Amino acid sequence: MKEAPANLETAVKDRFAALARDPSQEHRFPIGPDSAKRLGYSAKEINSLPGGATESFAGVGNPFSLGDLRSGQSVLDLGCGAGMDSILAAQRVGPTGTVIGIDMVDEMLAKARRNTVAVAVANVHFRVGHADALPVPAESIDVVITNGVFNLCADKPKVVAELFRVLRPGGRLQMADILLEPHVTPEELAGKGSWSDWVSGAIWERSLREMLLAAGFGEIGFHGWTGYRTSDCTQGALVSAVKLAK
Ligand SMILES: C[S@@+](CC[C@H](N)C(=O)[O-])C[C@H]1O[C@@H](n2cnc3c(N)ncnc32)[C@H](O)[C@@H]1O
Repeated sequence: MKEAPANLETAVKDRFAALARDPSQEHRFPIGPDSAKRLGYSAKEINSLPGGATESFAGVGNPFSLGDLRSGQSVLDLGCGAGMDSILAAQRVGPTGTVIGIDMVDEMLAKARRNTVAVAVANVHFRVGHADALPVPAESIDVVITNGVFNLCADKPKVVAELFRVLRPGGRLQMADILLEPHVTPEELAGKGSWSDWVSGAIWERSLREMLLAAGFGEIGFHGWTGYRTSDCTQGALVSAVKLAK
């Protein structure tokens, strides 16, 4: 992984603020309802959501495919963007459950709040925050879902430590993210790409596994590639892990 540029956060914020404002512009990565359907969301669930909730979708896989959510659970959607996954999670956990969507881009959060009003779900709350300092109490979350966010984070061990902190013992991480393909060598990587193509921020599955283990996670599972591509050496992938009960 190349060192993150000092202005990484500003670049990421600008990019996703633009996507929230105008998804019809040319963006350098797949977005919207058709991308969601290609990634395994059902046409029925996508078509049931208002266009505002799906047009700025920028996920790279389907974290719901990694485990069912149950009625009454508390869910954190890290890097919730315009809120599509948060709304789907809120529908799954029902009125006795809660969903907290966190993102660092105000424009995305404003859009997510509008989308939530449009579908009339009351059990989802959006908060501004950073992945490496989550505004969420310790051991308060049953399931963390995250979709296309970890690769954009500079301090990955800190983010993993935060995810571990907020999960209850027995809680689950369901992650869709961009990973480096296993054949890519560090030498090849050195000459490639940039953070803005989501190459430099991506890590290997084995590196992610080490980070998760170091933080205390167990039952780490790699569930395959999603087919989502932004470069010739990265792909969307699905990974799960459990905060083992002591
Ligand atoms: C590729 S988009 C995915 C959005 C959403 N999960 C979806 O599936 O549509 C990444 C989102 O993560 C947010 N993000 C990136 N880095 C972040 C960080 N360090 N802390 C919080 N949010 C972050 C961005 O603002 C953006 O909304």
